Amino acid sequence: MFITFEGPEGCGKSTHSKKLKSYLEGKGHKVLLTQEPGGTQVGKHIRSLLLNPESVLDETTEVYLFAADRSEHVSKVVLPALKEGKVVISDRYVDSTLAYQIGGRGLPEDLVRYINMVSSKGLIPDLTLLLDVSPEVGIKRAAQVGAADRFEKEKIQFHQKVRAKYLELAQNDPERIKVIKTDSRDIDKVQEKIRGIVETKL
Ligand code: TYD
Repeated sequence: MFITFEGPEGCGKSTHSKKLKSYLEGKGHKVLLTQEPGGTQVGKHIRSLLLNPESVLDETTEVYLFAADRSEHVSKVVLPALKEGKVVISDRYVDSTLAYQIGGRGLPEDLVRYINMVSSKGLIPDLTLLLDVSPEVGIKRAAQVGAADRFEKEKIQFHQKVRAKYLELAQNDPERIKVIKTDSRDIDKVQEKIRGIVETKL
């Protein structure tokens, strides 16, 4: 079972993915929690290039760096763990590229979808939990965690476009992508919803 967490900045993915991991382990599952970008050794270098506010990257360079990170991640981490029968939870995956690089950056849909297909080796998540938050709330939350990275520094309009693309993706694939609103601060309620959705899928 391959589960991904997605959403705009400050949506609560890291909190909820960790909580879901503990919950599933408590139920006796073997769980691997991983992330993109940066889920492999080489990926950590790629991550710092992508997130460093001092990196000035062309949009095409950016999408290829995310693709290179994903290629490493899928072949060295995700697929081996799935083969071992683990539940794999990834904090971000292909939908981030669709939302940020098509929605946010405006790259052509067919180009990014093709790059995604190659870099993911065609591996589609069984379930995607899209934690939806308004950019106004999300950016404030993200700012409490530390210095802003290259994406967090983008204008509010960029984050609005990312969110709109995410919601469009969910609308077009309601079987796989489940939207959970996280504007309210009630972490327990959100986690309860997540667990319910995952249990149904399992
Ligand atoms: P990260 O610190 O993991 O962000 P967050 O805590 O918001 O999940 O940084 C990842 C950033 O990279 C985030 O701003 C989204 C962006 N991103 C893309 O633009 N495209 C992608 O394909 C992926 C995986 C991430």
